[in-house]
Amino acid sequence: MDLDLIADQLEQTGYIVLAKPLADELLEGLMQRCEDDGSRRFQTAHVGRGPAKQHIESIRGDVISWMDPEDSIDRDFLEQMEALRLALNSRLFLGMFDYESHYAIYSKGYGYAKHSDVLQGKKNRILTTVLYLNKDWQPENGGELVVYEPSGENELLRVQPTFGTMIIFLSESYPHEVLLSHTTRRSIAGWFRVSGS
Ligand code: OGA
Ligand code: MN
Repeated sequence: MDLDLIADQLEQTGYIVLAKPLADELLEGLMQRCEDDGSRRFQTAHVGRGPAKQHIESIRGDVISWMDPEDSIDRDFLEQMEALRLALNSRLFLGMFDYESHYAIYSKGYGYAKHSDVLQGKKNRILTTVLYLNKDWQPENGGELVVYEPSGENELLRVQPTFGTMIIFLSESYPHEVLLSHTTRRSIAGWFRVSGS
Protein backbone atom coordinates (compact mmCIF):
# COMPACT_ATOMS: atom_id res chain seq x y z
CA MET A 1 0.00 0.00 0.00
CA ASP A 2 1.22 3.50 -0.80
CA LEU A 3 0.64 4.94 2.66
CA ASP A 4 1.76 8.48 1.75
CA LEU A 5 -0.63 8.61 -1.19
CA ILE A 6 -3.53 7.30 0.89
CA ALA A 7 -2.85 9.81 3.67
CA ASP A 8 -2.51 12.72 1.20
CA GLN A 9 -5.73 11.95 -0.61
CA LEU A 10 -7.72 11.35 2.56
CA GLU A 11 -6.52 14.71 3.82
CA GLN A 12 -7.41 16.48 0.58
CA THR A 13 -10.69 14.87 -0.46
CA GLY A 14 -11.73 12.49 2.32
CA TYR A 15 -11.83 9.39 0.14
CA ILE A 16 -9.65 7.22 -2.07
CA VAL A 17 -10.27 4.25 -4.37
CA LEU A 18 -7.34 1.83 -4.62
CA ALA A 19 -7.13 -0.66 -7.50
CA LYS A 20 -5.38 -3.48 -5.64
CA PRO A 21 -3.64 -2.54 -2.41
CA LEU A 22 -3.35 -6.11 -1.05
CA ALA A 23 -1.36 -9.08 -2.35
CA ASP A 24 -3.13 -11.59 -4.61
CA GLU A 25 -2.38 -14.46 -2.26
CA LEU A 26 -4.14 -12.72 0.62
CA LEU A 27 -7.07 -11.76 -1.61
CA GLU A 28 -7.50 -15.40 -2.67
CA GLY A 29 -7.61 -16.48 0.97
CA LEU A 30 -10.09 -13.76 1.89
CA MET A 31 -12.32 -14.72 -1.03
CA GLN A 32 -12.39 -18.32 0.19
CA ARG A 33 -13.25 -17.17 3.72
CA CYS A 34 -16.13 -15.10 2.29
CA GLU A 35 -18.09 -18.27 1.55
CA ASP A 36 -21.24 -19.24 3.45
CA ASP A 37 -20.87 -22.97 4.13
CA GLY A 38 -24.13 -23.09 6.08
CA SER A 39 -22.34 -23.41 9.43
CA ARG A 40 -24.07 -20.24 10.67
CA ARG A 41 -20.79 -18.35 10.62
CA PHE A 42 -22.67 -15.85 8.43
CA GLN A 43 -25.65 -14.17 10.08
CA THR A 44 -28.33 -11.79 8.90
CA ALA A 45 -27.14 -8.20 9.08
CA HIS A 46 -29.10 -5.73 11.18
CA VAL A 47 -29.72 -2.02 10.95
CA GLY A 48 -29.17 0.21 14.00
CA ARG A 49 -28.14 -0.70 17.52
CA GLY A 50 -29.83 -1.27 20.86
CA PRO A 51 -33.62 -0.92 20.91
CA ALA A 52 -33.59 0.49 17.38
CA LYS A 53 -31.90 -2.65 16.03
CA GLN A 54 -34.00 -4.22 13.34
CA HIS A 55 -33.79 -6.44 10.36
CA ILE A 56 -35.44 -5.07 7.26
CA GLU A 57 -34.49 -6.86 4.07
CA SER A 58 -35.62 -3.95 1.92
CA ILE A 59 -32.99 -1.74 3.61
CA ARG A 60 -30.15 -4.16 4.00
CA GLY A 61 -29.95 -7.63 2.49
CA ASP A 62 -26.50 -8.94 3.28
CA VAL A 63 -25.34 -11.71 5.61
CA ILE A 64 -22.19 -10.96 7.59
CA SER A 65 -19.39 -12.70 9.49
CA TRP A 66 -17.05 -10.71 11.74
CA MET A 67 -13.28 -11.17 11.32
CA ASP A 68 -11.85 -13.87 13.53
CA PRO A 69 -8.38 -13.10 14.98
CA GLU A 70 -7.97 -16.87 15.53
CA ASP A 71 -8.03 -17.46 11.78
CA SER A 72 -4.68 -17.03 10.02
CA ILE A 73 -6.12 -15.41 6.89
CA ASP A 74 -8.27 -12.99 8.89
CA ARG A 75 -5.25 -12.23 11.07
CA ASP A 76 -3.14 -11.47 8.00
CA PHE A 77 -5.80 -9.01 6.79
CA LEU A 78 -6.11 -7.44 10.24
CA GLU A 79 -2.33 -6.99 10.37
CA GLN A 80 -2.40 -5.09 7.08
CA MET A 81 -5.16 -2.85 8.38
CA GLU A 82 -3.26 -2.35 11.63
CA ALA A 83 -0.27 -1.08 9.62
CA LEU A 84 -2.63 1.28 7.79
CA ARG A 85 -4.11 2.48 11.09
CA LEU A 86 -0.69 3.30 12.53
CA ALA A 87 0.46 4.99 9.32
CA LEU A 88 -2.63 7.17 9.07
CA ASN A 89 -2.53 8.05 12.75
CA SER A 90 1.06 9.25 12.49
CA ARG A 91 0.45 11.22 9.29
CA LEU A 92 -3.00 12.66 9.98
CA PHE A 93 -3.23 12.61 13.79
CA LEU A 94 -6.58 10.82 13.66
CA GLY A 95 -6.16 9.01 16.97
CA MET A 96 -7.85 5.85 15.68
CA PHE A 97 -7.58 3.13 18.31
CA ASP A 98 -9.01 0.05 16.64
CA TYR A 99 -10.56 -1.54 13.58
CA GLU A 100 -13.70 -3.67 13.34
CA SER A 101 -14.59 -5.50 10.15
CA HIS A 102 -16.76 -8.21 8.69
CA TYR A 103 -17.23 -10.25 5.58
CA ALA A 104 -20.49 -9.53 3.76
CA ILE A 105 -22.37 -11.55 1.16
CA TYR A 106 -25.23 -9.98 -0.79
CA SER A 107 -27.35 -12.56 -2.57
CA LYS A 108 -28.87 -11.90 -5.96
CA GLY A 109 -31.57 -9.24 -5.64
CA TYR A 110 -30.20 -7.53 -2.54
CA GLY A 111 -28.48 -4.23 -1.76
CA TYR A 112 -28.12 -1.74 1.05
CA ALA A 113 -30.19 1.46 0.95
CA LYS A 114 -28.53 4.88 1.29
CA HIS A 115 -27.12 5.31 4.79
CA SER A 116 -24.36 6.78 6.94
CA ASP A 117 -21.92 4.49 8.76
CA VAL A 118 -21.92 6.71 11.83
CA LEU A 119 -24.48 5.10 14.11
CA GLN A 120 -26.89 7.31 15.96
CA GLY A 121 -25.41 8.26 19.33
CA LYS A 122 -22.26 6.34 18.55
CA LYS A 123 -19.97 8.65 16.64
CA ASN A 124 -16.78 6.66 17.01
CA ARG A 125 -16.44 5.43 13.45
CA ILE A 126 -13.88 7.63 11.71
CA LEU A 127 -12.86 5.87 8.50
CA THR A 128 -14.77 3.27 6.49
CA THR A 129 -12.97 0.72 4.32
CA VAL A 130 -14.60 -1.67 1.85
CA LEU A 131 -12.62 -4.37 0.04
CA TYR A 132 -14.23 -6.24 -2.84
CA LEU A 133 -13.75 -9.93 -3.57
CA ASN A 134 -15.58 -10.57 -6.85
CA LYS A 135 -13.69 -12.07 -9.75
CA ASP A 136 -14.83 -11.34 -13.31
CA TRP A 137 -17.35 -8.76 -12.12
CA GLN A 138 -19.42 -7.36 -15.01
CA PRO A 139 -21.04 -3.88 -15.04
CA GLU A 140 -24.42 -5.51 -15.81
CA ASN A 141 -24.25 -7.32 -12.47
CA GLY A 142 -25.31 -4.09 -10.71
CA GLY A 143 -24.15 -4.04 -7.09
CA GLU A 144 -22.16 -0.82 -7.40
CA LEU A 145 -21.31 1.23 -4.35
CA VAL A 146 -22.73 4.73 -4.89
CA VAL A 147 -21.04 7.39 -2.78
CA TYR A 148 -22.84 10.73 -2.33
CA GLU A 149 -21.50 14.19 -1.60
CA PRO A 150 -21.58 15.12 2.09
CA SER A 151 -24.87 17.03 1.55
CA GLY A 152 -26.34 13.67 0.54
CA GLU A 153 -27.89 15.17 -2.59
CA ASN A 154 -25.55 14.52 -5.49
CA GLU A 155 -23.78 11.38 -6.50
CA LEU A 156 -20.01 11.67 -6.17
CA LEU A 157 -18.77 8.35 -7.53
CA ARG A 158 -19.67 4.75 -8.30
CA VAL A 159 -17.38 1.87 -7.51
CA GLN A 160 -17.59 -1.52 -9.18
CA PRO A 161 -17.02 -4.27 -6.58
CA THR A 162 -14.21 -5.87 -8.57
CA PHE A 163 -11.68 -8.26 -7.05
CA GLY A 164 -9.10 -6.43 -4.96
CA THR A 165 -10.56 -2.91 -5.20
CA MET A 166 -10.62 -1.04 -1.90
CA ILE A 167 -12.34 2.24 -1.07
CA ILE A 168 -11.54 4.24 2.05
CA PHE A 169 -13.64 7.26 3.08
CA LEU A 170 -14.48 9.47 6.05
CA SER A 171 -17.39 7.65 7.70
CA GLU A 172 -19.24 10.75 8.79
CA SER A 173 -18.91 12.70 5.54
CA TYR A 174 -20.11 10.31 2.89
CA PRO A 175 -23.60 8.78 2.69
CA HIS A 176 -23.57 5.76 0.39
CA GLU A 177 -25.63 2.85 -0.87
CA VAL A 178 -25.18 -0.55 -2.46
CA LEU A 179 -27.28 -0.89 -5.60
CA LEU A 180 -29.24 -4.12 -6.03
CA SER A 181 -26.90 -6.87 -7.06
CA HIS A 182 -27.99 -9.25 -9.79
CA THR A 183 -25.54 -11.89 -8.65
CA THR A 184 -23.76 -12.91 -5.43
CA ARG A 185 -21.57 -10.04 -4.24
CA ARG A 186 -18.74 -10.43 -1.69
CA SER A 187 -16.92 -7.75 0.30
CA ILE A 188 -15.23 -6.89 3.58
CA ALA A 189 -16.51 -3.74 5.28
CA GLY A 190 -14.49 -2.24 8.12
CA TRP A 191 -14.26 0.80 10.35
CA PHE A 192 -11.39 2.50 12.11
CA ARG A 193 -12.67 3.89 15.38
CA VAL A 194 -11.76 6.37 18.06
CA SER A 195 -12.60 5.62 21.67
CA GLY A 196 -15.60 7.01 23.52
CA SER A 197 -19.21 7.25 22.38
C1 OGA B 1 -21.70 -1.21 4.83
C2 OGA B 1 -21.56 -0.77 3.42
C3 OGA B 1 -20.71 -1.08 1.22
C4 OGA B 1 -20.33 -2.12 0.19
O1 OGA B 1 -21.53 -2.42 5.10
O2 OGA B 1 -21.97 -0.35 5.70
O3 OGA B 1 -21.92 0.35 3.16
O4 OGA B 1 -20.01 -1.71 -0.93
N1 OGA B 1 -21.02 -1.58 2.49
O5 OGA B 1 -20.38 -3.32 0.49
MN1 MN C 1 -22.02 1.59 4.92
